[in-house]
Amino acid sequence: MFASGDQPAVPPPVAPLPVVGSEASGADNVPDVDLTQPVPASPAAAPAAAAVVAQPAAAQSEPSSDGTTSAHLDASGVSMWFSGRKVLEGCSLSMEPSMVTALIGPSGCGKSTFLRSLNRMHELVPGAQLAGDILLDGVDIYSEDINPTEVRRRIGMVFQKPNPFPSMSIADNVLAGLELSGTKTPDPKGLVEECLRRAGLWEEVKTRLNEGGMSLSGGQQQRLCIARSLAVKPDVLLMDEPCSALDPISTRVIEQTIRELCHDITIVIVTHNMQQAQRVSDNCAFFLVEEFGKPGRIVESGPTERLFSNPSDPRTLDYVTGRFG
Ligand SMILES: Nc1ncnc2c1ncn2[C@@H]1O[C@H](COP(=O)(O)OP(=O)(O)O)[C@@H](O)[C@H]1O
Ligand SMILES: [Mg+2]
Repeated sequence: MFASGDQPAVPPPVAPLPVVGSEASGADNVPDVDLTQPVPASPAAAPAAAAVVAQPAAAQSEPSSDGTTSAHLDASGVSMWFSGRKVLEGCSLSMEPSMVTALIGPSGCGKSTFLRSLNRMHELVPGAQLAGDILLDGVDIYSEDINPTEVRRRIGMVFQKPNPFPSMSIADNVLAGLELSGTKTPDPKGLVEECLRRAGLWEEVKTRLNEGGMSLSGGQQQRLCIARSLAVKPDVLLMDEPCSALDPISTRVIEQTIRELCHDITIVIVTHNMQQAQRVSDNCAFFLVEEFGKPGRIVESGPTERLFSNPSDPRTLDYVTGRFG
């Protein structure tokens, strides 16, 4: 939509985003939706689902051993606004199939906002706008004929604070996303086991599947949320500081899970923990607000090893070595 470096100061007249609830927003920045919860399906949007499922000829997904695919997510020239305030400018990032991409940078530089652009959750905030292109295997996820519910099925999200459904059992929590996205499964028990295994939780819970999800520890709850995301067979998983509320041992287990999942699923993770970024990611993008009141930008991105050992921008070096942030 806009070339990087050619960003307008105000939301563009051709902003591609269908802004939900903007008419009610005014100066109020507080979203009227809980962005920490899975987004319910919109039955009205269902007929367009095939559009985003259909793979273009140039699709880069590779079938994996269990038949799932992982996808290439490509953001280019993305700028984002909240009620007219620009918080991100000209962000371009290629998130490679079957790899983990970490988003790093100080608080408030737009990492979570950028993450929410990648599965169309940003538009759930009243007054939110976006310009730029986000392509999933070459298909523009903001195209008019694309169903946002299907986008959110293919691009799942795991939040900072584990959020299992409190009134549901462990097994029902795993299957909850299926109902929200209107998907049916022939073998729910098999799917529960498969997803819990992939999330690294099966051995710990296999004898207590009917107990409440809240009976689990924080780390187990987060893996339950990962299992819930996996049940709808996503191609991409977005994770917003998934370990920040967890102890080091649970953190380690989740990091191992992420490394295993990334064979089949493209993962984008926000982390404040520089050691975690190095342990878990293949590629890294460093976000920064250069001056108070200015929008955040991606200073540089590339292989994690290079960003941490030989970054091209001195600000990246200062950040990854802990001189600020
Ligand atoms: N719902 C919202 N409404 C208005 N402004 C927001 C909202 N969410 C985030 N922001 C603003 O957008 C900027 C980027 O925030 P965020 O993406 O949360 O940063 P990070 O995840 O890097 O800490 C901040 O200035 C923040 O105040
Ligand atoms: Mg954040």
